[in-house]
Amino acid sequence: QSTEQAVMYEAHEFVKKYYHHLLVNTEEGKKAFDYLQSRGITKEEIKQFEIGVALNSWDAVTKVLQKRGYPMSIMEKAGLVARSEKDGSYYDRFRDRIIFPIHNHQGKIVAFSGRIMGEGSPKYLNSPESTIFHKGKLFYHFYQAKNAIRKKNRAVLMEGFADVIAAYQAGVTEAIATMGTALTEDQAKILKHTTEQVILCYDSDNAGINATEKAANVLQKEGFTIKVATLPDGLDPDEYVRKFGVDNFQSAIIDASVSLMSFKMQYHRKGKNFQDETVKFQYINEMLQEIKKLPQLIEQDYYVNALAKEFSISADALRSELQQFQNQNQ
Ligand code: UTP
Ligand code: MN
Ligand code: MN
Ligand code: MN
Ligand code: MN
Repeated sequence: QSTEQAVMYEAHEFVKKYYHHLLVNTEEGKKAFDYLQSRGITKEEIKQFEIGVALNSWDAVTKVLQKRGYPMSIMEKAGLVARSEKDGSYYDRFRDRIIFPIHNHQGKIVAFSGRIMGEGSPKYLNSPESTIFHKGKLFYHFYQAKNAIRKKNRAVLMEGFADVIAAYQAGVTEAIATMGTALTEDQAKILKHTTEQVILCYDSDNAGINATEKAANVLQKEGFTIKVATLPDGLDPDEYVRKFGVDNFQSAIIDASVSLMSFKMQYHRKGKNFQDETVKFQYINEMLQEIKKLPQLIEQDYYVNALAKEFSISADALRSELQQFQNQNQ
């Protein structure tokens, strides 16, 4: 760890406290507090997730950092401030936004994400990648969830901040998030040190469903046991909890998660008309491709038999087809 990085960590911790203080203790923070309240996020979660607010100001953070003697060139590299191309002066990167601190897996704050209060773009403004922040190598809330993940021997993987907070309120304390980007091989490898089981609980819009498929493929390569929790009506976990209450999220969604193969069956079936034989054979081929990815032969055999039974094809024919796929890919 370089001294520059040490300064970056320290500045993030300092700024986190500053944003949090503004939210919890000041009149200027009232609007943000009310916004969170309206989303069902109370004082308890504000504390647990160390949420804060960046004021509607161009220089509030810049000034406190300068006053504390933090070198501004390093603050810029860390993404805490930005620099004007015109006159080279520094200004606050995050303005008029709810602030979610992002911890690395050792518990140090390495970045922030700022949500606009209401509609607007970008919805979340993130810290840039830096020498201390690699978005593809950490999970949001992993540091705090680690013990729960160990104890329950599984992680529940979600897309975003609000989802993890809602899950936490519903007692799903093993929830973590990828923060909107595709799950990376690095993240999967890192998670594997703590658990070998993942429940994917992404948004139930089209983007989320496609991301579930992609994340599952990455996890499968690393040898995880994967389940999928599906939410109704295009909702995300946060929206579900707000609509149906915190009490049934665990039982109706998490406990009702299905095996990855059941999810894939639904996924590949979607919009297909099996009266059309071309479509039917396309589906069977897609499922064979999925079966091929299964690590255990007994699992492969089980799903080959199920597929054979459903479509009145001999299991032997499917098995030799599967064999051909496997040879092609070696
Ligand atoms: P979503 O668009 O699903 O947002 O993006 P959300 O989590 O439901 O946010 P709320 O409930 O409206 O507050 C999922 C995640 O993708 C990242 C964030 O981490 C977000 O939580 N994201 C999204 C960004 O980084 N930037 C964006 O502009 C939007
Ligand atoms: Mn902390
Ligand atoms: Mn989404
Ligand atoms: Mn969402
Ligand atoms: Mn949401």
